[in-house]
Amino acid sequence: MSVSVSLTDSRARVGVWLIGARGSVATTAVAGCAAVTAGLHAPVGMVTETPPFAETGLPALSSLVFGGHDTLDCPLPKRAEALAAGGVLPHGLPAAIAAELAAADRGIRPGGPLPGDTRGPEELIETFAADIRDFARHHGLTRTVVVNVASTEPVADGSGLPPSSLYAAAALRAGCPYVNFTPSTGLHHPALTDLAASSGLPYAGRDGKTGQTLLRSVLGPMFAQRALAVRAWSGTNLLGGGDGAALADPAAAAAKNAGKERVLTDTLGTTPEGETHIDDVPALGDWKTAWDHVTFDGFLGTRMTLQTTWQGCDSALAAPLVLDLARLTARAHEAGLTGPLAGLAFYFKDPVGDAPSSLGAQYEALTGFAQRLRTTPEAGRAEGAR
Ligand SMILES: NC(=O)c1ccc[n+]([C@@H]2O[C@H](COP(=O)([O-])OP(=O)(O)OC[C@H]3O[C@@H](n4cnc5c(N)ncnc54)[C@H](O)[C@@H]3O)[C@@H](O)[C@H]2O)c1
Repeated sequence: MSVSVSLTDSRARVGVWLIGARGSVATTAVAGCAAVTAGLHAPVGMVTETPPFAETGLPALSSLVFGGHDTLDCPLPKRAEALAAGGVLPHGLPAAIAAELAAADRGIRPGGPLPGDTRGPEELIETFAADIRDFARHHGLTRTVVVNVASTEPVADGSGLPPSSLYAAAALRAGCPYVNFTPSTGLHHPALTDLAASSGLPYAGRDGKTGQTLLRSVLGPMFAQRALAVRAWSGTNLLGGGDGAALADPAAAAAKNAGKERVLTDTLGTTPEGETHIDDVPALGDWKTAWDHVTFDGFLGTRMTLQTTWQGCDSALAAPLVLDLARLTARAHEAGLTGPLAGLAFYFKDPVGDAPSSLGAQYEALTGFAQRLRTTPEAGRAEGAR
């Protein structure tokens, strides 16, 4: 793979504020950014490091500064060691990037609400926003992107703002672009619609597309384009880790499965029979097996079947996308883009804005988005030109 974007750009530093900063995805993103910046590993899986993103003015990986919120207090270096022991991170990597892990760990603040927390929504939002502002001030950051990679919460029951929405409101209050990599509510709460619209900030989401849904967004259009009639599409996911444990809650799994099924309806134009299930298998750790079973009719009603097996390491699939999204959203903010970033639909199960649902069309929209960034001057260049 060719590396087309400079990793040693000396432009101003950009903050990446991770909600769920001690989780598997967050830890892998921090460790991966340090490993690639140090030249220890190639940026495999990072779409922003491929030729269509050259000269789009994205912040260099070396310019990213990490911090965030988490309700756990396990130190990041320890979390990275556990991921290395599980084979998610390369053996020896946590020691090689110990300084970067320790620096990110110092940027993590207690999240909420914690058990027995007596703080109301307003106080929590203000505390979270103040933490983000302090981080930006302390590091002299030009901008900070807030990325939600916290545990999936149960589908909102309509009573008040769920934690993901408190964090999203805090991001807006702190003047930060926002990315929701999870299926949780985040900015999709009716109480935040006007605030998001009037904030003048760009935002993207929801729920990173890394495995089964990625495959569905390629296969669904194939069936539709070949005029084959899909009758049923069933899927089962076996996964462990923190995500597996969180999704063992049927209400949390419902949020995830809704996105997986929506991709089929959108790409096929009909809703096939069949369901999607998620089973928590702790022994699998961060590895996931996703099976899909598709029954379809061909010419003259001839019945056929396609079965797929996806065996992925979830955090290794998700972390490069989190880095891509942080860079693209930071650059969109610099370029003055506001509102839902439909051009980033390529990354999500349930994209914001008016976005196509097939992966091919989403990739075209993404490269169009890159072209838009390329033709919008960087802040530094614009100032220099004045
Ligand atoms: N890995 C993938 O391929 C993938 C794809 C799409 C979406 N996601 C989503 O990314 C999220 C993270 O996945 P993971 O595997 O890192 O999970 P994880 O369980 O390892 O990490 C989640 C972290 O969120 C923290 N957290 C929980 N509640 C919090 C709160 N109120 N405030 C702050 N922090 C809180 C937890 O303490 C934990 O450290 C999940 O929602 C998952 O569904 C992952």
